[in-house]
Amino acid sequence: MDNFTFYNPTKLIFGKGQLEELKNEVPKYGKKVLLVYGGGSIKRNGLYDSVKKLLHEIGAEVSELPGVEPNPRLSTVHKGVKICKEEGIGFLLAVGGGSVIDCTKAIAAGAKYDGDAWDLVTKKAFATEALPFGTVLTLAATGSEMNAGSVITNWETNEKYGWGSPVTFPQFSILDPVNTFTVPKDQTIYGIVDMMSHVFEHYFHLTENTEFQDRMCESLLLTVMEKAPKLLEDLENYEYRATILYAGTMALNGILNMGYRGDWATHNIEHAVSAVYDIPHGGGLAILFPNWMKHNLHVKPERFKTMAVRVFGVNPDGKTDEEAGLEGIEKLREFWNSIGAPSRLADYEIDDSKIELMADKAMINGEFGNFAKLNREDVLEIYRMSL
Ligand code: NZQ
Ligand code: ZN
Repeated sequence: MDNFTFYNPTKLIFGKGQLEELKNEVPKYGKKVLLVYGGGSIKRNGLYDSVKKLLHEIGAEVSELPGVEPNPRLSTVHKGVKICKEEGIGFLLAVGGGSVIDCTKAIAAGAKYDGDAWDLVTKKAFATEALPFGTVLTLAATGSEMNAGSVITNWETNEKYGWGSPVTFPQFSILDPVNTFTVPKDQTIYGIVDMMSHVFEHYFHLTENTEFQDRMCESLLLTVMEKAPKLLEDLENYEYRATILYAGTMALNGILNMGYRGDWATHNIEHAVSAVYDIPHGGGLAILFPNWMKHNLHVKPERFKTMAVRVFGVNPDGKTDEEAGLEGIEKLREFWNSIGAPSRLADYEIDDSKIELMADKAMINGEFGNFAKLNREDVLEIYRMSL
């Protein structure tokens, strides 16, 4: 196990009816609130009205930034920063999925930065200050509700990067499974793929003696794989929604990955696809991850075998580690197919015409990946396997 420091200051407020806690939490941070949300789902399901009512009851002065896009754009971050600076906003409240939360993080830090917020995303500058913000999560997927990460797209240049800083953790996040009842089937599937992929990014590392961490990762995967098909048949089931919501948060809040460094190459490769084609992040991961696994099976076959046996129930008798590992990867593909996730770039009508461009974007900082270093040819090969 490697040395580590664990830091996560986000207060997690989970369960039915917990939205009321806004009345206790928001007044701690300021009266002038910027409410940030997406393309209208919260208006359609009534959450917008409930939030506005609670903010009204505590006498908050509310400005609004609607219209945050899935794969949130820099142009929207700029709009939010302008509102914060002009109106003296003291607190931001993100109500939505990962995109709304990520956008809010960039606005919160951008409002305290004396330059273009894109500098923070591209790591030209490091965010040392941010306005405080809280979240009301409506979609189980990214873990953004309890981590400091944010992913922003510059649509003018087709670039999409992740960034973060210790000042971009939410102060609090309210997770009521009921607020995820209206997430449509396809987005529910993407969320499930995303949280499982976060665990895979952790799981493939080269550090020895991480048995407890491995078991936690495996437990999360097994639980999600058991509940996901049931949830997809019964989208308004509170218990299934609760399990998946909690799992999504735990998959990327730092708790599973203490004491080692995960890989994260597949996320980088996927962000390059989304940057060019604007596809859903979870959809891209479902296509790419099994191919990243196949491409890197040779690096440490016993790791893939362990996953195959413990998570996918593969019988290793009479098989090499590589054979057992490959069977596990195929079972992952079968599982994702069975819940309706995409499996080829062609599912999004993506052909090979821009794979060189996507590889350039993925390679912007040179070779990447911690379990296996990928060069440009590796990236191209994974795209080709995914066509
Ligand atoms: O915009 P609205 O109208 O709200 O609709 C959204 C959007 O169309 C809809 N939705 C959300 N909650 C809903 C709902 N529809 C009905 N009922 C609800 N309760 O779902 C659509 C997708 O929302 P989005 O926020 O884009 O999804 P997700 O949470 O998967 O976030 C994806 C973004 O997060 C980034 C991705 O790259 C992508 O940009 N990521 C962020 C991470 C982080 N901050 O830690 C890590 C991830 O790996 C990921 O890269
Ligand atoms: Zn992800």
